[in-house]
Amino acid sequence: MDHFHSCRSMPDKSLGLRVERKHGERLRKSLVESGLFDRSRKICSDETYVYLPALERNDEADEALSKVASFQWIELDFPAEEHQTTPEELLGFRPSFEVVGDIAMIEDEGNDAERIASALMATCKGIRTVIAPISDVEGEYRTRRFRHVAGDRRTVTVHREHGLCYLVDLEGAYFTERLGTERKRVADQTRPGQMVLDMFAGVGPFALLMAKRGARVVAIDKNPVAVKCLRENAIRNKVLDIEILEGDARELALSYENSADHVIMNLPHSASEFLDSALRAAKPGGVIHYYCIAPEDDLYRDWKTIESAAERIGASVEVVYQGIVRSYAPHRHNVVIDFRKKGSV
Ligand SMILES: C[S@@+](CC[C@H](N)C(=O)[O-])C[C@H]1O[C@@H](n2cnc3c(N)ncnc32)[C@H](O)[C@@H]1O
Repeated sequence: MDHFHSCRSMPDKSLGLRVERKHGERLRKSLVESGLFDRSRKICSDETYVYLPALERNDEADEALSKVASFQWIELDFPAEEHQTTPEELLGFRPSFEVVGDIAMIEDEGNDAERIASALMATCKGIRTVIAPISDVEGEYRTRRFRHVAGDRRTVTVHREHGLCYLVDLEGAYFTERLGTERKRVADQTRPGQMVLDMFAGVGPFALLMAKRGARVVAIDKNPVAVKCLRENAIRNKVLDIEILEGDARELALSYENSADHVIMNLPHSASEFLDSALRAAKPGGVIHYYCIAPEDDLYRDWKTIESAAERIGASVEVVYQGIVRSYAPHRHNVVIDFRKKGSV
């Protein structure tokens, strides 16, 4: 519990959680994952309790955190954290980068790459390697090539997300931490015992999270490197009850006709080509989570394609949810359409 400091004289009261010491670390992690941990303040403790500083209180966090441990909301004079130098302060501008495990991937290549890398390694605890992409995300397997910029020479790391850990080979298989919130949104919809078909599973961040919540999961990917990591990740996270298949989702999905409560179609550039198989695999009442890239002035244009595919197989569909997942390029977004295959189950 070396995160914890004892409380001394403190300037002003702010919001926090009080939890028994034995549950402190688990609740701290969940608070961080929920995005509500107040990093500007120090954690406090006494003989019995740990006090975790929080940014705000809301019903969703209340519900999620109370599943982890019982706690009370409190107001306390949490001391301020000492200031830590940021990459921005060293560089004079804010570099754009993504961290997966202990690897930072910087976006602005060019002459500044080495300077950005040394600023990141100096200020961000836990970064051991800095790489820069030398290609777009490309090909059927959606992979990228990288140039080594600083630190250890590797593209393999272990990334933690929502309490699970993933072996990731950034050059061999697709992975981005930027979908973390979206993966949780989808996983939160699964109930124990439901059947989930993840058609484009990658190293398993949707599939394993949903399996951990008690779903029976079939996870497919065509890329052998992704499947190798996925198998390893199932073992690492003690997910024993999962079917992992290497091959083309278009064909493999057909073995699960009318079976899936949830079908995940996270292949945004070409998901439309797999709609027939996905619609066949969903059971009546099942929900398909469909991702695509769309222009900002016509975000949900794929809905027409979805309706036509449903018509082709004699099914009908209704939208359950639609939203922007993240910005993809200027005026283009990665969007999700959750839709239900209609009919009685
Ligand atoms: C955008 S990645 C998504 C990975 C994962 N869902 C995630 O969130 O990290 C798409 C994945 O689909 C796989 N893929 C592409 N075409 C496929 C196909 N025809 N059948 C099965 N998997 C395919 C790629 O290898 C890649 O791992």
